Amino acid sequence: MPSERGQAVTRPRLRADIPTPALIVDAAALDRNIASMARFFSTGGCRLRPHFKAHKTPEIARRQLAAGSCSGLTCATIDEAEIVAPFCDDVLIANEIVGTSKWARVAALQRRTTVTVAIDSVEGLEGLAAAARDEGVRIGVLIDLDVGQRRCGVAPGDALRLAQQADATGGVVLRGVMGYEGHIQPIRDRIEREARARDAMSALDAAAGQLRRAGLSCDIVSAGGTGTYDISGRVDGITEIQAGSYALMDTDYAAVQVPFEQAFWVLGTVVSRPSPDRCVADCGHKAMTRDHGLPSVHGIDGATVTALNDEHATIALPPAASIAVGNLVQLVPSHTDPTVNLHDVFYVVDGERVIDVWPIERGYAEQRTARAGARQPASQPAH
Ligand SMILES: Cc1ncc(COP(=O)(O)O)c(C=O)c1O
Repeated sequence: MPSERGQAVTRPRLRADIPTPALIVDAAALDRNIASMARFFSTGGCRLRPHFKAHKTPEIARRQLAAGSCSGLTCATIDEAEIVAPFCDDVLIANEIVGTSKWARVAALQRRTTVTVAIDSVEGLEGLAAAARDEGVRIGVLIDLDVGQRRCGVAPGDALRLAQQADATGGVVLRGVMGYEGHIQPIRDRIEREARARDAMSALDAAAGQLRRAGLSCDIVSAGGTGTYDISGRVDGITEIQAGSYALMDTDYAAVQVPFEQAFWVLGTVVSRPSPDRCVADCGHKAMTRDHGLPSVHGIDGATVTALNDEHATIALPPAASIAVGNLVQLVPSHTDPTVNLHDVFYVVDGERVIDVWPIERGYAEQRTARAGARQPASQPAH
């Protein structure tokens, strides 16, 4: 297979052949995480709607859907929704979508799959509805409620008004409410996390009740993430949980002590061993983000990452560490989603063998189109 630059690209057969920095995923650990979450949602009234933004990898999303207990997939952007549409018949875009070209893309997508979009403004509602009418389709909407994160979402007292407007607007179908308790996901203390998630969910459930009492439809009450799936997902009235990180995991969620395994790592090569207590690998913050802290080191007892630069990870080593220039290191990212978004593929490993390569679909379709256009000469010289 030729690369974009014309060189032959061969798929590495062994972990040692993977060009670093790179993402590796242990498919067996991933499948155990997926199966365990599907099992949790196989009982009780709430379903799982795995969030695609955590991995942006169609093969992982297909495995999540195949494992069962799902109501569909959650996406963060229209790009992600377009990517999953070929294999998912019920897509929730759990973020506000604003902009004429994006509304038109949502409307076009509704021809290929069932799409529901979070809204929290009249502008967002009307733009989406106008695009739907132009396309001759009806798009589902959820009223996005601020349940305490203070990001997007209407105040609980304003949900009914926007829902009534949505109900009266042609081109959209009111499907219910959502309220993402993102501020509660990382709370380490289980008792506090439970109490605060329950409070947030009772505000969401109350809004759902208001809609129903007013005669509006509210079939979907969507919330939750990896830190609260087993709390919010057991609150009466919550119909689906949007968890994403559980499939791959990171150090931040490990600290929350959710029962999932680390299933992916950044693989780096040691490029320098300047002193007995330090080595430097070729995987800096262009290969993983540090917005949730520095990564940790897998497999070398007592080793810690002390700094990330653009291209380098500096690792403090215990005195006995025998690591040498050319050896591989595996770092555990602190935040899954933005780390995955820095890479084009997952190398799928089984022990030392590379058993597959899975494309990561980052989206940015409009930028890719602009880039393809930029390669063409603006006008052909006359012959
Ligand atoms: C709207 C929304 N729902 C759900 C999630 C849950 O994701 P995770 O399980 O990765 O925490 C997120 C994460 O940021 C989100 O933004």
